[in-house]
Amino acid sequence: MVNREKEAAGKSAVELVQDGMVVGLGTGSTITYVIKHLGEKVKDGLDILGIPTSHQTELLALQAGIPLTTLWEHPAVDLAIDGADQVDPMLNCIKGQGAAHTREKIMAYSANRFVVVVDESKMVNVLSCPVPLEVLPYALRLVERQVTKLGGVPKLREARKKDGPVITDNGNFVLDVDFGEIIDPKKLDERLSNIIGVIEHGIFTNADEVHIGRKSGVEVLKKS
Ligand code: 5RP
Repeated sequence: MVNREKEAAGKSAVELVQDGMVVGLGTGSTITYVIKHLGEKVKDGLDILGIPTSHQTELLALQAGIPLTTLWEHPAVDLAIDGADQVDPMLNCIKGQGAAHTREKIMAYSANRFVVVVDESKMVNVLSCPVPLEVLPYALRLVERQVTKLGGVPKLREARKKDGPVITDNGNFVLDVDFGEIIDPKKLDERLSNIIGVIEHGIFTNADEVHIGRKSGVEVLKKS
């Protein structure tokens, strides 16, 4: 079962957390397990501060009893743990299915160590799922034109239980852009970062390690 594999990956990453650490908490269903296990360790005396990357994570972490802080108060994060939608063998990731990738990327770059947790279904040879872009609403048409010139097919993300577009925790739209197979994620990363009106995109090239929950156990891949 996928959930068991997500939980195993999350639990494995939680083993890296030590007393005194400031821990960045990503967003999504896999991170729900990280929060659960971290909360249990806090109840047993682990002394940490967490920084959430979304409203969802903040609410879950508060429920789990994890003391929270902010990047303003603690800008130097020891360890960030986050999920991903796809991961390639070089540890490049696509993130943002939960529309939280802007804060997640800020967290990933604030952290001394960035650890990704996934079940094995997320591992691919070549990244290929649509890349989420957080876009300033005012810039929507400009961004659509620019990503089309790069060969992408943009689709405004629609909300399921609200009429109209998804609005991120930061008040912006999400464009999911299908580029097909992404042969050079670093190049696309740079190109998307250069588009005016894109606040942040979902290609992450800075993971230090990935904990993969497999049916056979947890495999850890580290950046060489
Ligand atoms: C949210 C994300 C998530 O980390 C990613 O979508 C993975 O989610 P899940 O663990 O639910 O599969 O990037 O913006």
